[in-house]
Amino acid sequence: MITSTISKRLSSQSFVFTRQLSTKLPLSVTINLPNGSSYQQPTGLFIGNKFVPSRQGKTFEVINPSTEEEITHIYEGREDDVNHAVDIAEQTFKSGVWSKVDPIIRTNAINKFAQLIEDHAETVAAIESLDNGKALFAARGDVVLAVNYLRSVAGWADKVDGRVIDSGSSHFSYTKREAIGVVGQIIPWNFPLLMWAWKVGPALATGNTVVLKTAEATPLSALYVSQFAEEAGIPAGALNIVSGFGKIVGEAIATHPRIKKVAFTGSTATGRHILKAAAESNLKKVTLELGGKSPNIVFNDADIAKTVQNIIVGIYFNSGEVCCAGSRLYVQEGIYEELLEAFKVAAEGVKVGDPFAEGTFQGAQTSQNQIDKILQYVKIGKEEGARVVTGGERIGDKGFFIKPTIFADVEESFRIVKEEIFGPVITISKFSTVDEIIEKANNTNYGLAAGIHTTSLNTAIDVSNKIEAGTVWINTYNDFHHQVPFGGFKESGIGRELGTEALDNYTQVKSVRIKLD
Ligand code: NAI
Ligand code: MG
Repeated sequence: MITSTISKRLSSQSFVFTRQLSTKLPLSVTINLPNGSSYQQPTGLFIGNKFVPSRQGKTFEVINPSTEEEITHIYEGREDDVNHAVDIAEQTFKSGVWSKVDPIIRTNAINKFAQLIEDHAETVAAIESLDNGKALFAARGDVVLAVNYLRSVAGWADKVDGRVIDSGSSHFSYTKREAIGVVGQIIPWNFPLLMWAWKVGPALATGNTVVLKTAEATPLSALYVSQFAEEAGIPAGALNIVSGFGKIVGEAIATHPRIKKVAFTGSTATGRHILKAAAESNLKKVTLELGGKSPNIVFNDADIAKTVQNIIVGIYFNSGEVCCAGSRLYVQEGIYEELLEAFKVAAEGVKVGDPFAEGTFQGAQTSQNQIDKILQYVKIGKEEGARVVTGGERIGDKGFFIKPTIFADVEESFRIVKEEIFGPVITISKFSTVDEIIEKANNTNYGLAAGIHTTSLNTAIDVSNKIEAGTVWINTYNDFHHQVPFGGFKESGIGRELGTEALDNYTQVKSVRIKLD
């Protein structure tokens, strides 16, 4: 079973973050950034293009995972805030000011939104590193990807069209694609800004209105960028952000009878729960982007130096907190020893630490929950009899830092090979034949991604055809483009993000038949 008892136990601890402020929290606070500058951080819920306190006035603490110190408090939404946001989003949807306008108006507004974010790119990247703990270079990359994606979907807004269908001379038949209505979106903490863009972009481009919940560990960047909505020309009520906890705000979104679709990125366990909640409330449409335990496969004929770089990016990028991380490394027996040695040297050369320090590749894990979970898996790996080639311990006693870790001598049955760890921990094992590696690679309930490293075109295509995964990277890894769809086979998800596939998820087909005399 993929869902471990550890992750269940840990997720129930998230409430320890909640703490009530005794004095009233201002709607904007000054935050000093490690780069010496400061900025104004909105703290309210974003509803109707305004920041507002939550109805019950509760707040929660936001932590800097690199120092474990408090950054600020922000307002915590509850069910009544979700209801309020849905009311406003529904009014805006029904008014037609966004859903029924000439779509070029949406194109222009989303483009301007992208521009305003880009104008503040350095601040947005710093906020992301501060709140999530990721290395600043990675946060800067996220901002570029988010801005590019918004521009891409902006360009699609006026290109959503239907078909004229030949159904004989007695009728004129055509289809059109229409917006769905109020959509609920629930995002995780590993790519807070990028997941905001992947969710909000296609929903708004196609004329829907949005109620989005950020992750409790990383609420800051989405609030910061949403302040530009009004100036960009997004009408009040089209984009609403309710910060808060999964079991309260997330639950209220998943079960809401007037939310017509829910899009979620996060754990498979929570995804399964959301699918049930959606079914039992109003059969809202559901798209899920869930976990993974992706195989990264190296053949004897691979270029070792390039492959090692791809393995490093595959597992240590974003501190390993990546749904498609290449966390199961399989190396063909002819180059196993040589590759393992080169990989060990490279892993020991990964610079871990302060996300803002020059040259840092791997920053902090995002939360206490996450570092506890990763260290627990390291312990399990040792108990299972795996050999620690390098790493396997925490760095320092302040900040959530872990050494890049390699486990060798693993068996397919080990929990560290089967379960998603979501940290800088990789397992490595040997294979000899294509049949053997296909069997091992597909021996998982997940199916998000896979990597293949070979200089043979035949091997690359043959193996990619046999792998059960939504994305296959060949001689590269964690390599995204906003026009290339992304999503999971098997228990890694339902639906696709990015590309035109993402837009299809936010529209529904209407068929019209006109009887001719
Ligand atoms: P999670 O799936 O519980 O959290 C993701 C989002 O779902 C957050 O916004 C959370 O508030 C919300 N949520 C939680 N419970 C909910 C509920 N009952 N109804 C509606 N929304 C709810 O994941 P969590 O606990 O933060 O992390 C646990 C593990 O999940 C990680 O260690 C990792 O293995 C995996 N994960 C996978 C991600 C991915 O990108 N596929 C992202 C985050 C976590
Ligand atoms: Mg944080």
